[in-house]
Amino acid sequence: MATTISPAQLDARVAEFLDKPRKMLIDGKWVDAISGKTFPTYNPATGEVLAQVAEGDAADIDAAVKAARRAFDSGPWSRLTASDRGKLVWKLADLLERHIEEFATLETLDNGKPLTVARAADVPLAVDMFRYMAGWATKLEGTTIPISVPYTPGANYHAYTLREPVGVVGQIIPWNFPLLMAAWKLAPALACGCTVVLKPAEQTPLTALLLGELIQEAGFPDGVVNIVPGYGETAGAALAAHDLVDKIAFTGSTEVGKLIVHAATGNLKKVSLELGGKSPNVVFQDSDVEAAIGGAASAIFFNHGQCCCAGSRLYVERPVFDRVVEGVAAKAKKIKVGSGMEPGTHMGPLVSEEQLQRVCNYLEIGMKEGATAMAGGKKLGEKGYFVEPTVLVNTKEDMRVVQEEIFGPVVAAIPFDDPEELVPRANNSMYGLAAGIWTKDISKAHRLASALRAGTVWINCYNIFDAALPFGGYKQSGWGREMGKDVLNLYTQTKAVCTRL
Ligand code: NAI
Ligand code: MG
Repeated sequence: MATTISPAQLDARVAEFLDKPRKMLIDGKWVDAISGKTFPTYNPATGEVLAQVAEGDAADIDAAVKAARRAFDSGPWSRLTASDRGKLVWKLADLLERHIEEFATLETLDNGKPLTVARAADVPLAVDMFRYMAGWATKLEGTTIPISVPYTPGANYHAYTLREPVGVVGQIIPWNFPLLMAAWKLAPALACGCTVVLKPAEQTPLTALLLGELIQEAGFPDGVVNIVPGYGETAGAALAAHDLVDKIAFTGSTEVGKLIVHAATGNLKKVSLELGGKSPNVVFQDSDVEAAIGGAASAIFFNHGQCCCAGSRLYVERPVFDRVVEGVAAKAKKIKVGSGMEPGTHMGPLVSEEQLQRVCNYLEIGMKEGATAMAGGKKLGEKGYFVEPTVLVNTKEDMRVVQEEIFGPVVAAIPFDDPEELVPRANNSMYGLAAGIWTKDISKAHRLASALRAGTVWINCYNIFDAALPFGGYKQSGWGREMGKDVLNLYTQTKAVCTRL
């Protein structure tokens, strides 16, 4: 399916896309912001402006929500058969796969991640998400229910349930996996028959806008998907508060997640949240220690630690603590940090100046609190937003670098002695997104998997994602599950129908 594109053709297409200010997609048309304003998106490897993008605010969100409302309430979309809806979502996957090189390149330029990663992970996972969800469109079934109704003796009923789309959905996504987060949100919403207003992150709006072009090409009716780039405090807040929105789905910081909950109270729209984490990754002495070292390094350094599920608290059983920590530090020192466009780069820049400041600030706090860096520990270079992959030791549970989400390539390593004592320590976090366990003892692994308060537990692996596997948080890591069949509950609602025979 994938077509080949020459490097010169690719450069020309990407240059053309970046050349003029990008418009927003509302009601099937590419339009400027009503205010006429644009905002810059940067290349984090250089700090230079990459492109200008229409800056949506409350007025544009209002237009987009009304378009989505019309498309849901009266448009051809709601009359499509489930099969036709599924075919459109599948077609979008095919188109995306055909344009993999453009998407990967744009993602690298806008976000900073290595091109090899965008090409191998971000875009193919997005394709797979649309394909997986396309199949669900025809399988959203209700049930027939034998009811007894004791207060109407002798009466007979035919009762059943319908699974109906929840309606107009507002989706607000972050910058760490810009295209993939758009796919996680759009694919189930469309498969379920909802209409959408999507607000990409202001740091990385470009691949969502390019996806908008494919949504048009696939033939989705006008207004089914509207894409409004803009800032969180303006466009995002207006979407979360809008009374014609039936549901809001958000991925980002726990702090903003709480603002979303407040904003949703006006019309009590449904809310789903995928928020932060401070995930424990636990290495036992009876593990395959070399595999655990590699796994612990990639758990924190993948995507520069800008993963909500990053294995940022590394608990290691004391007899192998030094070996594991030295192994992870050695891997950290070997990581080639540079522009994501350079072949051979393992780790690109952080996404923004702000994120670089945040991570460097945490490094300083950690040192002041008494932690020491076995590897890394500082900003790298003068140009772009690079930071060294960092392994902190001499950490204590109450330190801010052990409690708070850093969202950068910084792991805090902590020894433990007794597996019993480990569980409360690993669970000592306001977050509960993910956890890792490295051991060859399967009983111990599954006992611990059950005791850890986390939405995902990886055993002898880490960062394994699949469209069929639900993902989401316990505690303050969120509400609801994305992916798998669980996510269908977020985009449908049940109607009970009861007939007296
Ligand atoms: P953020 O939570 O501010 O941004 C995420 C999205 O929410 C963006 O689209 C943003 O425009 C929007 N937003 C911001 N304020 C809003 C508001 N008041 N109403 C509606 N939407 C709003 O995250 P930010 O500032 O980019 O990163 C801060 C920290 O958040 C990171 O250091 C990290 O700890 C965490 N984070 C977690 C992510 C995850 O995948 N769970 C992704 C990105 C950030
Ligand atoms: Mg950018």
